[in-house]
Amino acid sequence: MKRLDDFRLRMGQHELVPIMIGGMGVDISSSDLALEAARLGGVGHISDAMIKTVTDRRYKTKYVKAKQAQYKYNVDSPDKSTVKFNLADLAEATRLHVEHTMDRKQGSGMVFINCMEKLTMNAPRDTLKVRLDAALSAGIDGVTLAAGLHLGSFALIEDHPRFRDAKLGIIVSSLRALQLFLKKNARLNRLPDYVVVEGPLAGGHLGFGMDWAQYDLATIVAEIMTWMKAEQLDIPVIPAGGIFTGSDAVGFMEMGAAGVQVATRFTVTKECGLPDDIKQEYFKASEDDIEVNQISPTGYPMRMIKASPGIGDGIRPNCEAYGYLLDANGKCAYITSWNREVAAHPGAKRVQVFDKTCLCTHMRNFEIWTCGQLTWRLKDTTVKATDGSYQLLSAEHVFQDYQFSTEQRVALPELAEAAA
Ligand SMILES: Cc1cc2nc3c(=O)[nH]c(=O)nc-3n(C[C@H](O)[C@H](O)[C@H](O)COP(=O)(O)O)c2cc1C
Repeated sequence: MKRLDDFRLRMGQHELVPIMIGGMGVDISSSDLALEAARLGGVGHISDAMIKTVTDRRYKTKYVKAKQAQYKYNVDSPDKSTVKFNLADLAEATRLHVEHTMDRKQGSGMVFINCMEKLTMNAPRDTLKVRLDAALSAGIDGVTLAAGLHLGSFALIEDHPRFRDAKLGIIVSSLRALQLFLKKNARLNRLPDYVVVEGPLAGGHLGFGMDWAQYDLATIVAEIMTWMKAEQLDIPVIPAGGIFTGSDAVGFMEMGAAGVQVATRFTVTKECGLPDDIKQEYFKASEDDIEVNQISPTGYPMRMIKASPGIGDGIRPNCEAYGYLLDANGKCAYITSWNREVAAHPGAKRVQVFDKTCLCTHMRNFEIWTCGQLTWRLKDTTVKATDGSYQLLSAEHVFQDYQFSTEQRVALPELAEAAA
């Protein structure tokens, strides 16, 4: 009976434990979580989603306050096109987060950064270039291009001195998305170092429509691997989405995968950036408590716990402070929905908005509880304390459970109270 530890993820010269902890914005995949993966010989991710908010919280910068003050005059205007990010500040915030993380790195693994294209930030090309350049300059081991097709992203950094030495990967949910990416980038003569194939059971935004349930990760992975073989392309393939046990992972390795990307099981670890009371909500969730909906202004379906306080909340758009989802013309689908409700309820102190959510504000405040489909199984991965709460796990415990378990088993932690 094979264990995940019987395999290795090879990326260039590096040999890694084939476990990648996926990026989880806004600072849910914290530095501490990513660093544990690296210490244990795998790959961890930090995320650059809402980076200025993250550095304000973690490193006591004041970027959000400064931006809010600069654009205060615009708060009542539905037109957010003038609300721009200061690119030097964006680079500095990225540098801070990456350097603080990389300075603490131990072990033989690696730390990557998750960069979502859908964070269009009212100047998609310029802001993405700054984010990518700054992360590479600050010494990140690799960049995972996520949430978007990223057709032009390699070209944005082709002149960066680390373009050929840093690990660069892409997340796709279909063979077609991968083919498009490779075709667009053929002239650069630089293949991605890995391809994460994210299936329909993943957390966060989905690369599928609302018909996501008709797709199956193993089928997409097999299709991509068959095509790559025919094209004689040798790029490590890393399946993601619903890989809950070491045995699930071994199944993919036996198909020829190079490693697996996992996330949901780490949402209930001590190192995860979610507040501890919200980790309890993840533990408690049953299958019926989880939905895929269309309230993200990005236009992608998103999976979340139905009780997320951000669902239906009609907060005033906060683009002067945040504005990460403003498109190239300063528009966000939430602003449109909010204005519609305000117009329909004259004089109301607070409106409700159900078709879209102010994702920046609510992700910042941990009020949209995005999660993988198998979140309902988390309660079976730990023990309960006498007060009824679920015991948080260590990232090391979960990582090693993936690495060493067999026969679909999930190792439970020792009950801390009994040990004390
Ligand atoms: C709480 C949470 C937040 C996530 N946020 C992001 C994100 O910001 N960017 C991204 O590319 N993927 C995101 N994901 C997807 C994960 O990186 C990963 O690919 C996927 O969830 C793996 O499936 P699993 O959760 O079933 O293990 C998120 C997943 C979760 C659970």
